[in-house]
Amino acid sequence: MPLDLDATDAAPHPAWLPDAALAAAGGRRLALDLTSVDAGRHGVLDRAVLGTLATELERAVAAHGGAVVAATDSPDLTLRLTGLAGTTPADATSVRGDSAGEADRAAAGPHDGFTVVRADGRVTVTAATPTSLLHGWFEVVRQGEAAFTGADGVAHRAPAAALRMLDHWDNVDVHPVMGQVERGYAGGSIFYDAGVVRADLSRVTTYARLLAAVGIDRVSINNVNVHAREARLLTDDLPEVARIAAALRPYGVRIHLSVSFAAPMTLGGLATSDPLDEDVRAWWRDAADRVWEAIPDFGGFVVKADSEGQPGPFAYGRDHADGANVLAEAVAPHGGLVHWRAFVYNHTQDWRDRSTDRARAAFDHFAPLDGRFADNVVVQVKHGPLDFQTREAVSPVLAAMPRTRLALELQVTQEYTGQQRHACYLGPWWGELLGFRPWDGAAAEGATTVADVVTGHGPDAAPAVVAAGGGGIAAVSNVGDDRFWTGHPFAQANLYAFGRLTWDPTLDATALLDEWVSLTFPGASPALRDALHGILDGSWRTYERYTAPLGVGFMVRPGHHYGPDVDGYEYTPWGTYHFADRDGIGVDRTRATGTGYTGQYPAPWRDVYESPDTCPDELLLFFHHVPYTHVLHSGVSVVQHVYDTHFAGVEQVEAMVARWEEVAAEVPTDVADRVRERLAEQLRSAVEWRDQVNTYFLRKSGIPDAHGRTIY
Ligand code: GCU
Repeated sequence: MPLDLDATDAAPHPAWLPDAALAAAGGRRLALDLTSVDAGRHGVLDRAVLGTLATELERAVAAHGGAVVAATDSPDLTLRLTGLAGTTPADATSVRGDSAGEADRAAAGPHDGFTVVRADGRVTVTAATPTSLLHGWFEVVRQGEAAFTGADGVAHRAPAAALRMLDHWDNVDVHPVMGQVERGYAGGSIFYDAGVVRADLSRVTTYARLLAAVGIDRVSINNVNVHAREARLLTDDLPEVARIAAALRPYGVRIHLSVSFAAPMTLGGLATSDPLDEDVRAWWRDAADRVWEAIPDFGGFVVKADSEGQPGPFAYGRDHADGANVLAEAVAPHGGLVHWRAFVYNHTQDWRDRSTDRARAAFDHFAPLDGRFADNVVVQVKHGPLDFQTREAVSPVLAAMPRTRLALELQVTQEYTGQQRHACYLGPWWGELLGFRPWDGAAAEGATTVADVVTGHGPDAAPAVVAAGGGGIAAVSNVGDDRFWTGHPFAQANLYAFGRLTWDPTLDATALLDEWVSLTFPGASPALRDALHGILDGSWRTYERYTAPLGVGFMVRPGHHYGPDVDGYEYTPWGTYHFADRDGIGVDRTRATGTGYTGQYPAPWRDVYESPDTCPDELLLFFHHVPYTHVLHSGVSVVQHVYDTHFAGVEQVEAMVARWEEVAAEVPTDVADRVRERLAEQLRSAVEWRDQVNTYFLRKSGIPDAHGRTIY
């Protein structure tokens, strides 16, 4: 790996919450109005967040010269808690329906939120829960002066997704291959250090504050690949897990645990993990009871089963609904959730076998189970059918299970998009995915989108799915103990955009980047702002240009997945092939002559993708095997497209480097230097990609570049 990340113990970078970002509110008179609230009804989470609200206001005025005043004393900003309708037994340690549990959310409606009223220059934010009020506070912070100087009016803000979650792939022990954080590119874990939960978890609270500011309120704290050490978080380590929960709680963030399906055997000493076995069911119930006893606001379990070597129900001839439902039954009395991942496929495939198609697997396994999952199971679906490639079709599972709470799973950590060495702003891509219309053509305005499906508004959604607000949006976190949280300072923008999109999936990625710039670089000059847009707005497409072409995916170096290796996965068991020969390239996934994958889509996409005449260029090689001379809709041949985009991609990275040098002096030296170092590596890597990919295609096809550029 070319670069070492220099994780450091120095104070973490403030990201999008430097004190300067609090200036507009902090210079004014602020009040917290809790008069209509019966504090005795608060549970553990609500109580913690109430304390935080007070501290946040004090912090803002201390930094900017304002004052915290009584609600009756004409404040400029009042944060008012309107009371907790239907919430929280007084005894917060009661395990049933504790604060902000699912039962409470159902009572409050699936979507929490807040109202902002501005009248005569005074602003009042009201909300029914402390966490929603905290989100309202950060909305005021985000708006800055505009929050106070805009026109009078009333705005209600509610998150589109009821469940907004980040999954950490952190290991407790340093894994011999995957390290402290699997697919982590930002140093070590903020939770664990070399085998134990960190003694000092203050940084976890700082992280929770950043998450609250973008509206995320659930975090899963360990890797979905649950190794022996991590399995014990569920049992022996509960007091340590409770410490992590306590560190996240002040900002309204609840924790979830990844658990191993084999836990009844490996931890419980049972002879089986068969989900239909009575002892197994009892073991899970007891395990859940102990978790909620230790952590009353615990969220639930995340499970990767029968996938890449993880144990699962198939060993007992059971299916994934049987498996998920046994855990669901155990957590249900506590209002808990089970996030069951649909990333299930055969990872010991024979590359000689052209009939097995990994892209088909999730649909083949899960679509027939629609309607069988318990109401508190969320089936978590990767956005594409393969594995977070730079460009993939949208997973057809998202259009196939109206009676199931489906969550969309995104990857904020940049495993396949430059590993936080390359600047690659993913907001535009996520916007495309969330706005994809599975049942309508690309141009159909107002049609049902993926975002609608995962927020409970899909066609034919079952009443329970509608009532719960669907399964929400989850993503693999990109954060570590690196000073900048994310390795590349610009990778912070991805975390920021992810959170904001869970509230409003229709937000424009450029506007989101602009918000991030305003908060992260307060007072940024127009030149700096322009440069950041110039570097980042189109950076995902730039990355796509110099890496694997036309949706074919997986030309990365096996194992660590960084840098080019065109044939790296070609003869492996992983099921990710491009089938290049001297005549052509791509995977035939048609019904007519291929694997039949196109048939997993509803109309019109099953037909749009079926024919190379209608398949969008950017997905051509994902769906079709075509000759190098095949002419794209763009008018150039496949092979010339490869050459053109790879030369263009490198030129665009050169332009990024130059752009940064024009403005780097405007940001703190540590930010400037880190970005400079990353851009240099991005350029080196992009050149390597260009030359390997172009040379590969020249050698295979024998077709020279029409423009006579250097190909080796
Ligand atoms: C990818 C990734 C793995 C991860 C897996 C998953 O395959 O490379 O590290 O475990 O996704 O999503 O479970």
